[in-house]
Amino acid sequence: MTRKMGVGIIGCGTIADIYCRNAPRFANIEIRACADLRPEIAQVLAGKYGLRALSVPELFGADEVDIVLNLTIPNAHVEVSGAALEAGKHVYSEKPLATSLAGARELTALARRRGVHLAVAPDTILGPGGQLARKLVDEGEVGTITAGTAFVLSRGMEHWHPSPGFYFQPGGGPVFDMGPYYVTQLVQLLGPVERVAALAATGIAERVVTAPGPMQGQTIRPEVATTIMGLLDFASGAKVMFGASWDVEAHGHRPIELYGTRASLRVPDPNFMGGVVELGTRADGWRELPTRERVFGKANYPFDAPIHANDRGLGVAEFARAIREGRTPRLAGGLGLHVTAVMEGLLAASEQGRVITIEDRCERPAALSEEEAAELLARA
Ligand SMILES: NC(=O)c1ccc[n+]([C@@H]2O[C@H](COP(=O)([O-])OP(=O)(O)OC[C@H]3O[C@@H](n4cnc5c(N)ncnc54)[C@H](O)[C@@H]3O)[C@@H](O)[C@H]2O)c1
Repeated sequence: MTRKMGVGIIGCGTIADIYCRNAPRFANIEIRACADLRPEIAQVLAGKYGLRALSVPELFGADEVDIVLNLTIPNAHVEVSGAALEAGKHVYSEKPLATSLAGARELTALARRRGVHLAVAPDTILGPGGQLARKLVDEGEVGTITAGTAFVLSRGMEHWHPSPGFYFQPGGGPVFDMGPYYVTQLVQLLGPVERVAALAATGIAERVVTAPGPMQGQTIRPEVATTIMGLLDFASGAKVMFGASWDVEAHGHRPIELYGTRASLRVPDPNFMGGVVELGTRADGWRELPTRERVFGKANYPFDAPIHANDRGLGVAEFARAIREGRTPRLAGGLGLHVTAVMEGLLAASEQGRVITIEDRCERPAALSEEEAAELLARA
């Protein structure tokens, strides 16, 4: 493989560590610099991983940085990604691309105008859980998919994230926070969404932060709905129920189930890369198809007692390769724009009490074969 592409991180908070930790696993990227509004935390990350700690403008001007990796909070995504694109850098953003459809449109248009590339997380859909499910769909094992369910339900964020305030402000909420994993996975399996409907509620009105950190003991009053029950109508004709909530103590739903004319398909948690895919029929019941032996399928997270496959950074490596090959990345800005349109559509549908048509469509991203995934790995 040719010269590695240089990556510069903006936003050195919670998620930055795993990107730095995983980067050496990939053949074609190297994280070289980092910056944060709080220079002291950029210094800490830089010290830990041998990076150059820079100011935000310095990072935009740094020659060794080809790709800006935007790991700031969601409300800063448009400002930071926009400034990086203006500076002529390629940008890979953590999800969501933007906290509004207008912001996502602005970024995709800006990238086109500047002639640079834009991509957006989640890269979990490139892992073997999503890709094996994709293969089964593409090879006709499931048949024509008529319907499905997708549920991301939990008791919230304030007991684990040290600064959970942003989750409960406009641009946060379970749809904009966790929706990208589920909607992106569904779009790669089923293609684009045509229309959405939804109803919303807020269960717990006052939430006490129990996670250790600067906000511990503070009370958060959510400014956004914390429960949304939606319906996604795909251009393919598939109808999928989508429930997202932070008001749920316990539940028994699978992350994603799809019902086809030949078989039913269980897709593992799209927040992680691996997991067990299941194919079910009336005749044979459920057949389990584990992915742990596949590329990027091995459990490596949490680090002390691994149960999930988490090679975050795979999307950045795929992005770098697409840039070199002059082709559209799997996680293209256009996919992120469509997913943002669906998420904003769900919120708008719940507020306005009507079905919303999704205007911003995208191509279904190309599948990532085992061979292509393996080529992204650094040689041991
Ligand atoms: N924490 C997770 O487990 C997790 C998982 C997947 C994705 N994400 C996504 O990653 C992103 C970051 O999440 P996090 O949990 O690391 O947040 P965080 O609050 O821990 O860290 C964000 C960092 O960005 C910095 N920042 C904010 N605005 C900035 C700006 N304008 N310029 C420069 N720096 C700025 C903050 O100072 C902070 O250090 C979010 O988009 C989130 O949705 C987080």
